Amino acid sequence: MRGKIEALLGAQWGDEGKGRVVDTIASRVDVVARFQGGANAGHTVIAEGEKHVFHLLPSGILFSGKTCIIGNGVVVDPDQLLEELGELQKKHKDRARLIISGAAHVVMPYHKFLDGMEERFRGIGRRIGTTKRGIGPCYVDKISRCGIRVEDLLNEDVLREKLSYNLELKNAILSKVYNEEPLAFGKVFEQAKEWGARLAPFVGDCSLEIEKALQQGKTVLLEGAQGALLDIDHGTYPYVTSSNATIGGGLTGLGIGPSSISNVIGVAKAYCTRVGAGPFPTEAGEETANLLRERGGEYGATTGRPRRCGWLDLVALRYAVRVNGITMLALTKLDVLSGLDKIHVCTSYISDEGKTENFSGSSTFLEKVKPIYEELPGWPEDIGDCRTFESLPKEARMYIEFIEEKVGIPITLIGVGPEREQAIRRGI
Ligand code: GDP
Ligand code: IMO
Ligand code: MG
Repeated sequence: MRGKIEALLGAQWGDEGKGRVVDTIASRVDVVARFQGGANAGHTVIAEGEKHVFHLLPSGILFSGKTCIIGNGVVVDPDQLLEELGELQKKHKDRARLIISGAAHVVMPYHKFLDGMEERFRGIGRRIGTTKRGIGPCYVDKISRCGIRVEDLLNEDVLREKLSYNLELKNAILSKVYNEEPLAFGKVFEQAKEWGARLAPFVGDCSLEIEKALQQGKTVLLEGAQGALLDIDHGTYPYVTSSNATIGGGLTGLGIGPSSISNVIGVAKAYCTRVGAGPFPTEAGEETANLLRERGGEYGATTGRPRRCGWLDLVALRYAVRVNGITMLALTKLDVLSGLDKIHVCTSYISDEGKTENFSGSSTFLEKVKPIYEELPGWPEDIGDCRTFESLPKEARMYIEFIEEKVGIPITLIGVGPEREQAIRRGI
């Protein structure tokens, strides 16, 4: 029988715990594939007593017998990738087979430089708060058809031609617009050639690999980066990332069709966080935000920045379910809410135009709305050791059932702590 594809996607503003959910369920899948984003992602996995933060490697890399794929839709920073791989190799934990698409674009040194410069140029009030990993400028080059692909690193003549064209243009921008020193061709060229030599053993055809796996009856898990509300089309534009973090990105970012997708898992936190600028209707006041940040360890896995924190937003979550066709939810960090007297959940928005239960990615719309909350009772117990739904305190079960009812889909995984085993699985 033909195998199937499951997609796992962020349903909020990123950092929902996608890495840990992939790791928790990875033993039952055969292939884990990243399809968009780049080293702006930081996916934390705590397993076998050790913490790993993956920026480019798929979170299934710790499992032997699996295949991990970095698809054509990803933008690859070779230095970062080789560093991640090197660290795992030292510990003999690079257990899965790794394949990188030759069509994935390469984040070049000038992309990172331009990311920082553009942010500086935007000034206060317009700044996006990017991760400065060169993501936006790299996707700009991809779309304007001058980008350098991983396969180009393997061909010296093609690389020389593409790099000289790019550097001529980028150096003009660096010196004439930003008043900075130009980059030397020789240095960048030598570095790029070395990347090519080191990445060559991993380069392959990811679309074909997935098709072969499906023909063998295998299960393929797509690992999204960022989240629906950071999606370039459906997120809170312009305060978004530069790729499609929603389901469509999974298809184009790997070269697969929709008919094999049997399940779309949305990952959400039991509350909300956001790093960087942009609208956040349920952002909490200082006291609650500090409480959630300290209990939840809400500091960026990539940049270390403190995350903005607030209550769960069901208006936004229903939107993420709609734009992705999410069929089930994984709700992480329920344990962080233990000990709160009352828990607020946003069920609708109000503005001068009235009440609405419909989200819109329009920043002007979001800046006008105020959240309407329902208040649910908290629970004092530590739930870190709960492994069944029934063993959760009554109020925690009520919280889960309330979300399921309001969103209209089941919650099949509940995170009760950051470690691989700290989850309640209900048919996932
Ligand atoms: P990702 O980018 O979606 O993979 O998420 P991050 O790794 O950036 O952030 C999620 C953080 O929450 C990490 O520090 C995880 O270790 C942690 N985490 C994930 N699930 C749980 C959970 O159920 N409970 C607790 N307390 N922490 C969790
Ligand atoms: P994971 O996969 C949270 C945010 C940045 C900034 C905006 C644009 O770990 O969930 P970029 O560098 O992409 O141009 O920045 O997007 N951002 C993330 N926030 N989690 C992420 O990834 C993010 N990747 C980018 O903070 O607001
Ligand atoms: Mg993260």
